[in-house]
Amino acid sequence: MSDPTQPREKWSGRTGFILAAAGSAIGLGNIWKFPYVVGENGGGAFVLVYLICVAIIGAPVMLCEFALGRRTLRSPVGAFRALATKTSILVHLIGIGVLIAGIFALLFRCWGWGALLLALGLLIFRHGWVLVGFSGVIAGFTILSFYSVVAGWTLGYIWKAAAGQLNFPTVTDAQAHFANFILSPGWALGCHFLFMLMCILIVYKGVQSGIERWSKILMPVLFFIIFALIVRNLTLPGAMEGVRFYLTPDFSKITTGSILIALGQAFFSLSLGMGVMITYGSYLDRRESLVTSTRSVGGLDTLIALMAGLAIFPAVFAQGFSPDVGPGLVFQVLPTVFNQIPLGAFWAFLFFILLLIAALTSGISLLEVVTAYFVDERRWPRRRATIVFGAAIFLLGSLCALSVTDWSRLQALHALLLKVFATAKPSFFDTMDNLSSNWLLPLGGLFISLFTGWVWGTRHALDEIRQGAPSFGNVHLVSLLAGLKDLPPSNGGPPPYTLAAFWGIFIRFISPVAIMLAFLHTIGWLT
Ligand code: PFF
Repeated sequence: MSDPTQPREKWSGRTGFILAAAGSAIGLGNIWKFPYVVGENGGGAFVLVYLICVAIIGAPVMLCEFALGRRTLRSPVGAFRALATKTSILVHLIGIGVLIAGIFALLFRCWGWGALLLALGLLIFRHGWVLVGFSGVIAGFTILSFYSVVAGWTLGYIWKAAAGQLNFPTVTDAQAHFANFILSPGWALGCHFLFMLMCILIVYKGVQSGIERWSKILMPVLFFIIFALIVRNLTLPGAMEGVRFYLTPDFSKITTGSILIALGQAFFSLSLGMGVMITYGSYLDRRESLVTSTRSVGGLDTLIALMAGLAIFPAVFAQGFSPDVGPGLVFQVLPTVFNQIPLGAFWAFLFFILLLIAALTSGISLLEVVTAYFVDERRWPRRRATIVFGAAIFLLGSLCALSVTDWSRLQALHALLLKVFATAKPSFFDTMDNLSSNWLLPLGGLFISLFTGWVWGTRHALDEIRQGAPSFGNVHLVSLLAGLKDLPPSNGGPPPYTLAAFWGIFIRFISPVAIMLAFLHTIGWLT
């Protein structure tokens, strides 16, 4: 049992908190995914749409998560439990909707979906808003299970780069090597184990001496490496072609679909929708400004995503490779690119270290959400919770590692899923990715904004945000844009167009609608 008389842990100060939260946000999503999504969706024009999504949807939701955590001093389950009213019309309406959907599914003989929806409907009636917190804990499990497999690959590639084995003459060789590597149980499971061990060791040490300490060491190293890679790659002959490809806006490629992709990417990249920021916010002192913190974390995350493109595309173009190969860019094209430049093995080594650091600081935040639930709500000692659930995630992740490309190694599970749900993703890895990125995160984000906007109430949330940022409610947005921020209002009272007012409107109306649309688009109901 954890000792309830012990004071709750805290960050030592704002820098530690910002680096830890930015560490969570900056991850494989920035360095592996963002560049190729930009490449596929219209370069600079997509970047612009992405920036708008981060500023007007991502940042307001992040502010809610920080406020929820700091007000309640709890991780997501406890935070919702503390603030949710016993009866909420919204919850009952949602519960009834889910139950009706379940009955229809049964009528159409979709037994698996029917049973799942009925169970979910009953859980909604029983737990209400607290279920959003539980979904965050489950997302911690599912995301980390596949995330740690990819992170494990980076560990393997660091080793291979150091051993000079990434010397592929052509991309086809690199592809063959990669396919062999991820399907070899020894490598895949071994690297996945090592990565999980690193996460466990850091989270085990606690908030200040584990997460904060390592974020303070690793994040500056990450900035330094990405900067070095940009300088190296921008100075290759022909590099400007890559910069042009990356940043020249092609507005013809901007469709409703790409806008919704940008929104989904912003959510994943900012670690929103599953309570990481609620948990991290709960360790923050009341004197710190949540507004400045949101600005710093969102800004750093976006900066690193943009820099990742600049570290990758110039080199790809300079060596005459095609940039639009999607997810294989980092593990297949890049090693081949590095193989052709002087001291290539060293640069490849550095690049995969960068990827590992990014993945590690995100991985620990995912494990922390699961751990914090058992520490806060079940009163487990932190060390026990970390080891038990780190090991459980390792086991779940092993299934992802074994069935990364198809189901051939998990045929029984595949058959069961097909029987019950009449559908299954191409592999267990894809199933976990789909469940978390397309379902749990967007729905979590949706309910976090609905909850803050309509149940807890923007007024109470604003009270919390104003602790440490007293002027947030008063800054006149129009004056701010006009550079007249500190001009006192002429008639005494606060002017209507304040930042806080805009935040409230976004949280109550714009974010829920936008997230809902993005969600329906990703699950294929809106084309
Ligand atoms: N933000 C991380 C990335 O960009 O890779 C991934 C992530 C971490 C998503 C934590 C969600 C989360 F809760």
